[in-house]
Amino acid sequence: MQEFKTLFEELGGTETIEKLVEAFYPRVYADPVLSPLFEGDIEDIKRKQKMFLTQFLGGPPIYSQEFGPPAMKQRHLPFEITPLRAQSWLACMKEAFQEADLDENPASVLFYDRLKQVAAIMVNSYE
Ligand code: HEM
Repeated sequence: MQEFKTLFEELGGTETIEKLVEAFYPRVYADPVLSPLFEGDIEDIKRKQKMFLTQFLGGPPIYSQEFGPPAMKQRHLPFEITPLRAQSWLACMKEAFQEADLDENPASVLFYDRLKQVAAIMVNSYE
């Protein structure tokens, strides 16, 4: 019988997610379009994002174990997310993929596509 790996495994598991998230948030906090939204502790959001992405990619459901249903659209409603901000978020992520050497993994195309879809759904303001 053929075995199927999760994207989480395919991409290199916890170590890869750690590298990616560590590369991502310093960019977000330095981005003039995104930084006004990020007033919380960078270590807290890194921790949550590592847990979320692990689960999102088919790894253990550690985000929900602590925080309940992901409900990402709902959790983002307090923040004004414009199309420009979604674009900037994805641009930071693209650079983080490169820094974490993820862009050399063929499965990263699938991962990035899913992030694009979720980012588009997060848009809640057209100012
Ligand atoms: C589209 C542009 C996006 C913007 C501007 C944005 C912005 C934010 C902000 C301001 C927070 C709260 C930070 C804090 O608590 O200090 C947050 C939390 C979070 N975001 Fe986003 N986000 C975006 C897209 C995404 C996407 C695409 C994902 C996942 C694929 C994601 C996953 C998360 C997670 C897991 C949290 C933590 C939720 C929690 O409090 O438990 N975000 N985001």
